[in-house]
Amino acid sequence: MSEFVAVSLSVNGVRYDVAIRPWRTLLEVLRETLAMTGTKRSCGEGQCGACTVLLDGDAVNACLYLAVEAQGREILTIEGPAGGDPVLEQIQASFANNGAVQCGFCTPGMVMITKDLLSHNDAPSEDEIRDALVGHLCRCTGYVQIVEAIRDAAGALARRAGD
Ligand code: FES
Ligand code: FES
Repeated sequence: MSEFVAVSLSVNGVRYDVAIRPWRTLLEVLRETLAMTGTKRSCGEGQCGACTVLLDGDAVNACLYLAVEAQGREILTIEGPAGGDPVLEQIQASFANNGAVQCGFCTPGMVMITKDLLSHNDAPSEDEIRDALVGHLCRCTGYVQIVEAIRDAAGALARRAGD
């Protein structure tokens, strides 16, 4: 009996039919099978948030999520702007413009949790932003600039919506 299973994944609006071992995590399949290396692996055990992707709009740690369980759901990764996601583009621009990126290893997860936050709360307070960042570790930038970047993104998106 084959140890591979056929899985159809929808990533950033594109469907991928892959044959994978059923115990492979979504993070492993994104990075190693689909060569989407924007999503990072750091702790590998749900502690750091570097591997955050959105499933049907909600953030999950891809290192803890089996790829087979993502079948039938919309997966959004940090590569989303290549598929034309204007909110992700704005968040990334705000991180760059506010000095919220140094080594950049945590940044994909930070950007994805920001997308999740702003889709549920378009004008978050500083406390709400900091609450959203619980579970997202940054070792070099410092959280002041990251919080500023998220406030900047929220403001820019609100202005755009009002135009
Ligand atoms: S790599 Fe998934 S939470 Fe750290
Ligand atoms: S920018 Fe280096 S870990 Fe956050």
